[in-house]
Amino acid sequence: MAQAELVAERAKTSPKEQDFLPLKGIDHIEFYVGNAKQSAYYYRSAFGFKLTGYAGLETGLRDRASYVLEQGKVRLILTTPLTQDHPINAMLNKHGDGVSVIAIEVDDVERSFRETTKRGAIGVQEPREVTDENGTYRTASIRTYGDTLHTFVDRKNYQGFAPGYRMITKDDPIARPTGLAAVDHIVGNVGWNEMDTWVKWYEEVMGFHLFVSFDDKDISTEYSALMSKVVASGSEKIKFPINEPANGKKKSQIEEYIEWYNGPGAQHIAIATGNIIESVTKLTEQGVEFLKVPSSYYQDLESRVGRINEPVDELAKLGILVDRDDDGYMLQIFTKPVEDRPTLFFEIIQRRGGRSFGKGNFKALFEAIEREQQLRGNL
Ligand code: FE2
Repeated sequence: MAQAELVAERAKTSPKEQDFLPLKGIDHIEFYVGNAKQSAYYYRSAFGFKLTGYAGLETGLRDRASYVLEQGKVRLILTTPLTQDHPINAMLNKHGDGVSVIAIEVDDVERSFRETTKRGAIGVQEPREVTDENGTYRTASIRTYGDTLHTFVDRKNYQGFAPGYRMITKDDPIARPTGLAAVDHIVGNVGWNEMDTWVKWYEEVMGFHLFVSFDDKDISTEYSALMSKVVASGSEKIKFPINEPANGKKKSQIEEYIEWYNGPGAQHIAIATGNIIESVTKLTEQGVEFLKVPSSYYQDLESRVGRINEPVDELAKLGILVDRDDDGYMLQIFTKPVEDRPTLFFEIIQRRGGRSFGKGNFKALFEAIEREQQLRGNL
């Protein structure tokens, strides 16, 4: 999309009612996993997260176990069911491991729940307040795409993660930090022709506005295509790109995701770092697998994106991609899926002024994904 069109598009959908839903940022991302103890080891030793909290049998929880992992401002919760009849089992059976909750920090849970459900959100958990020796913790949940939830969290009067959790303050001997600093964006995959429905949902229910959109001409290779629109919260602290499949000669990666996840869900979590070369060097050494583009991508890189501060040979060695927009440039790289089903993956991103999502890299990247789809027999 040309810049002028983009600005017009932004103006058209800029927030009208001044923020009926003020959001402070992503509070945490909860994953349902088959074996939280072992998944926690992976996120600690490979991604460098520190174990900071635990809830389970030892803390009086009888039906599930949860691990709290933190690095920079990123907080992940890994939860596994302990009993045969726990409803999370059905989620795991359907989706495999994946993102169950994208929790958002707010000042007023009651109001967030009321304002969103009034506008059409399906309420999943009514506002709840729990007080223990660490203070008062408030939450409420609504449903977004698929089985994914948004939980509103008010923790301003609470010390620690949440009631029922034991805080872990000692050094984590397994965690090997990689400089991951904050969540940049979280992408949702939805079904055919559902993207606009969900963009509208975020606009109407959550007070988000359209930030940028890409059509299938922007995002297509010889074989496959997708469409994407990015919605942002009033403050633009939270950005959620929404993808849907588009027609191509072969199967879109979005279709592949939806087939294996059995429905819409979170496709990737982009985490910002202040030094992508250092972060990706460590992540690679620690066993995180990244998608690779052909070396030809780097041959004329600076003629395409202009001068950059990072040595191109180092970017090429690691497979880091670069894209420029009017505001600056950004560097990005994508992991392979982090579970056996070809579903959730991560993006590592460093912004040097650039506000883009890597439009200039879509083609090279999707060709790399197609090579992986081919290996999986899913193209
Ligand atoms: Fe992304």
